[in-house]
Amino acid sequence: MEQTITARYPSNIALVKYWGKHGRQLPCNASLSMTLSRAYTEVTLQLTEKKSKDTELDYYFEGQRNEAFQERVLQYVSRQEAFSELLQHHALRIDSYNSFPHSAGIASSASAFAAIAAVLLRACSPVPDTSFEQEAGSLARLGSGSACRSFYGPYALWGDLDGVAQSSDRYAIPVEAIHPHFRSMHDAILIVEDKPKTVSSSVGHALMNHHPYAEARFRDANRHCLEMITILKDGDFTSFISITEREALSLHAMMMTSVDYYMLIKPETVHIINQIFQFRKDTGLPLCFTLDAGPNVHLLYPEYIKEDVQAFLEHHLRSSLKSVIYDQAGTGGSISLNDRHGAI
Ligand code: PMV
Repeated sequence: MEQTITARYPSNIALVKYWGKHGRQLPCNASLSMTLSRAYTEVTLQLTEKKSKDTELDYYFEGQRNEAFQERVLQYVSRQEAFSELLQHHALRIDSYNSFPHSAGIASSASAFAAIAAVLLRACSPVPDTSFEQEAGSLARLGSGSACRSFYGPYALWGDLDGVAQSSDRYAIPVEAIHPHFRSMHDAILIVEDKPKTVSSSVGHALMNHHPYAEARFRDANRHCLEMITILKDGDFTSFISITEREALSLHAMMMTSVDYYMLIKPETVHIINQIFQFRKDTGLPLCFTLDAGPNVHLLYPEYIKEDVQAFLEHHLRSSLKSVIYDQAGTGGSISLNDRHGAI
């Protein structure tokens, strides 16, 4: 019998960054992210009867066979004990679509591995709904660390933190108490470059192994996570801005001070950051930036200053930007099952 399972999971943007890992994709420090809503990956898994003894897995990205990602997914699926029965008995076809363009500063591996892990786990023996996210998160993490944070929204914490119940290095947990202002946060992704990055995140994580500032960085990030949990509860924008921007700059400072140092930010990135500083100083409005491992700038702001931000982008940044992707905080993913008789 043929069965298809479809999942749609969003990407996320870290406020407190995960940078450095050990063991089986375990983080060297805790991280805390905002889940997006419009930037998502939709994955459909089709299961049919297997015709040969070999592993049968076909991967299509936006309707086209994608050999490079197929290899990564195949390795990922074959290495997980949890999926071995599935691979033994079925031929798998995975179709994947992104709602956002490539190389736009949106972590596509986070949304993709969240969705891939979710459909595969759903296809395995039933997992109780109470632990589905935890289980799927822990499997998604093995494909891309930050993927485990895409299971909860609007904010998720990943990493074992003293004093935070249920926190774990294996999966993320939702940050429960959120002030209304932080529930409606927007993220305008300011694109200055739309080419793939020159140094992968895996290389960046590995460079933290012998980084002279590693221990201080890991300590800082853990403290920032604890502080951010309180900030999100209290609605304290001043502290939110301070931690979020310091985190973004620390991430890039780590890259620039690694033994094999490198730089991903561009002159336009610095120009935009300075414009944000100036606009905030002039208006007193609560907006700030963060950066992923790339040159594009994520501009974060609450719903109620939406119009001011649009005017700012129009008047001060128009000539520095290739494009802008508007997104906002979301609540996580969804999954649906069909057999050949229709939805069940
Ligand atoms: O999940 P990975 O291995 O792609 O690493 C993500 C690293 C950052 O995006 C730079 C930070 C983060 O916490 O998402």
